[in-house]
Amino acid sequence: MVSYKDLGLVNSKEIFAKAFQGKYAIPAFNFNNMEQLQAIIAACVEKKSPVILQVSSGARKYANQTLLRYMAQGAVEYAKELGYAIPIVLHLDHGDTFELCKSCIEYGFSSVMIDGSHHPYDKNIEETRKVVEYAHRYDVTVEGELGVLAGIEDDVQAEHHTYTEPDQVEDFVKKTGVDSLAISIGTSHGANKFKPDQCTRNAEGILVPPPLRFDILEEVEKRIPGFPIVLHGASSVPQDKVATINRYGGALKDAIGIPEDQLRKAAASAVCKINIDSDGRLAMTAAVREVFAAKPAEFDPRKYLGPARDSLKELYMHKVTEVLGSAGKA
Ligand code: G3H
Ligand code: 13P
Ligand code: ZN
Repeated sequence: MVSYKDLGLVNSKEIFAKAFQGKYAIPAFNFNNMEQLQAIIAACVEKKSPVILQVSSGARKYANQTLLRYMAQGAVEYAKELGYAIPIVLHLDHGDTFELCKSCIEYGFSSVMIDGSHHPYDKNIEETRKVVEYAHRYDVTVEGELGVLAGIEDDVQAEHHTYTEPDQVEDFVKKTGVDSLAISIGTSHGANKFKPDQCTRNAEGILVPPPLRFDILEEVEKRIPGFPIVLHGASSVPQDKVATINRYGGALKDAIGIPEDQLRKAAASAVCKINIDSDGRLAMTAAVREVFAAKPAEFDPRKYLGPARDSLKELYMHKVTEVLGSAGKA
């Protein structure tokens, strides 16, 4: 068993308390490989933002649990080497079993999500409570979820949102002892969050999706004042990246995300953590496709992964300064 404290990581408690007070949100960026990790750390150090490094169960299988532990430790050292020791959390994204959460804690994670949102309410409480009891022994923070996002979550495809029921949140938080709560207010995972026919067109002809359900968020805040809320599925799906991908042979159709002004508004509320994965995937893919189109004879991975990493870093710097408001808060 390795403690995250020995790796130089922190749990999410203090950074969430500060984010709540300061009316900003901590970025939770997913990573699977070295270039993504380098981009996240370089961007957050340059902008002096705290950061949550997020690993899904698929990412853990892809990267290997032992490598991940050393990569996280390396990230802490890399930040220092770049000149500023930002707070870094290593977080399990969408943990689906107690065993997975336990194993991640044993491998140095400082925070875990137990996603029981697809279970009936009582089963969700039971699963979440069990993880909290184990995690808190090691000072590891736990995120739970109430409500189901539309799209793919935990390999379960939900056609429609099941918005979080505000009347359940106080009971859930009290019975489980979770440290933060992910809610469903209209975001969803992936690059196709809305169908074009759900959107309206603004004066410039740009598709504008329906707004997030801030009324539900407000009701939740009233029931659990001061409690850190998490937003999953918060990619904005930058249209310039989508256009680049499609210009160079991609086939992304109807890719629509959450407008940045909606996320800025959420970040100023009780939302303390905003999850972004798809936008990073789009930025990397656009950069790689562009290199392949411009230089078809290129076969050195550094020549396409390098530009992909640069593009990711730029995207993350934009997120922390212009969307989440976490720049300068480390
Ligand atoms: O919410 C899911 C994240 O975007 C991770 O996706 O399971 O494909 O690694 P993944
Ligand atoms: P996006 O697919 O919108 O980036 O959401 C990522 C996420 O919620 C990870 O848990
Ligand atoms: Zn998610």
